[in-house]
Amino acid sequence: MQITLEARPFPAIETEALVSYVFEEADPVQGRIAEIDQSAGGLLSKLAKSGELTGKNLEFTLVHAPVGLKAARLLLVGAGKREQFNSVALRKVAGAALRYLKSRSVKNFALLVLQGDATEESAQAVAEGALTADFESDKYKTEKKNGKRIDTVSIAGYADRERAAGEKGLAKGRTIAESQNFARDLINEPSNKLTPSILAQKAETMAKAAGLSVEVLDEKKIAELKMGALLSVAQGSIEPPRMIVITYNPPSAKPGAPVIGLIGKAVTFDTGGISIKPSEGMEKMKYDMAGGATMIGVMRALAALKPNVKVICVVPSTENMPGGRAQKPGDIQTAMSGKTIEVLNTDAEGRLILADGVHYARQLGATHLIDAATLTGAIVVALAGVNVGVFGSDQPFTDKLLVSAKATGEKMWQMPVDDEYREFIKGTVADIQNIGSGKGGGAITGAMFIKEFTGDSPWIHLDIAGTAWNDDSKPWLAKGPTGVALRTLVHLVMSY
Ligand code: BES
Ligand code: ZN
Ligand code: ZN
Repeated sequence: MQITLEARPFPAIETEALVSYVFEEADPVQGRIAEIDQSAGGLLSKLAKSGELTGKNLEFTLVHAPVGLKAARLLLVGAGKREQFNSVALRKVAGAALRYLKSRSVKNFALLVLQGDATEESAQAVAEGALTADFESDKYKTEKKNGKRIDTVSIAGYADRERAAGEKGLAKGRTIAESQNFARDLINEPSNKLTPSILAQKAETMAKAAGLSVEVLDEKKIAELKMGALLSVAQGSIEPPRMIVITYNPPSAKPGAPVIGLIGKAVTFDTGGISIKPSEGMEKMKYDMAGGATMIGVMRALAALKPNVKVICVVPSTENMPGGRAQKPGDIQTAMSGKTIEVLNTDAEGRLILADGVHYARQLGATHLIDAATLTGAIVVALAGVNVGVFGSDQPFTDKLLVSAKATGEKMWQMPVDDEYREFIKGTVADIQNIGSGKGGGAITGAMFIKEFTGDSPWIHLDIAGTAWNDDSKPWLAKGPTGVALRTLVHLVMSY
């Protein structure tokens, strides 16, 4: 799909559909919408009076052959209250419009921004909204959706003096959205098509194309480095584990400046191991590598956006299988850091591989750590599929992330990591145990376990178990992998 900036004034745009948005207020026909109304002989005012055009959030009003426009259709999307409208809302409007028109076999449209909205931020939001909305999970369908596809989207409403900002936002939005879709593609792959080795190869190919340095540690190197926690999960599978390391190191990074470590859980399939999961819904555990895929996607975006800060991405990857060599409940493992772990439940494997991932990222020089993981079912109980669970050891750092989440429209909610919870994972025969002692707070004990390996580095943990996968489609997004947290993390790194 192509996205361009449209130079022509809106009445002259020849397109299958001209799209704009209206606010929910006493008279939704104002400003540029009123100009359209005038050239269309008052049609929109009439629709507003009859209650067909209200501006309510994501209401669609479609007019065919609108008088006074070169466009074949006019689509007005409800944008809700004017005071609450921002780039987050505009991203959804653009995405919802794309999916609405695509399902009606439209192939191209122009989105007209309103007066005052012709900014860099708006162009970025429209590009992100349209490109992420266009993503479909049809890679393995031999018959694609009977040719229903959007070929071009143009963004209209930018005056000559606003065009430079528009082009800049569009390019940035395209980079971010394509990286998000890159991550979603990986997340969608089933475990027979995406083993740890294949994930590593794909990460390597991406990194080389993007000009990033990349190193993949194989099982031998992982053993040499004594990554006992990662190995303990991997030993139950005949697929060997990988530790993927991608580095972005700009010449502009100053000595002594923060180095950001991005660590992502990449369990390419989680059966639970010997503490095996019920078969119902187990197929979804192919997305247990979403954290890792998201971090790899973030690196892809950063390579193009070129922030001034060094970033090290560490992705431990393995299957969690109940093979003959699998670890068993009660086994004691030694992590790379030297800490000993009682594995009381082999299904709590994400925290094990992250223990070594986080430790290794610090050893490589990361000073600020962020991990993303589909870590616990408990976060789904706490926050459902709405908010990402955020845990942080350093409030200013965590606040910075929450600001980025707000700015990019990704819902995130902070959870506690008080010392009291540390008691929950104290070991009986080893230093720590990999599950809490049955007192609840399952998402928190998962976070507390990872925290044990972060030393004194500021650290943030994102539990994306509930948000990495949409069970139902949204007007602006297909069902399936979401790529959540990528936009927030890119925004956060760019703010350094
Ligand atoms: N991969 C799962 C968590 C998960 C659950 C991801 C639902 C996506 C959707 C994780 O490895 C796991 O199994 N966690 C256990 C931990 C428990 C044994 C302490 C869980 O949440 O049940
Ligand atoms: Zn598990
Ligand atoms: Zn898991």
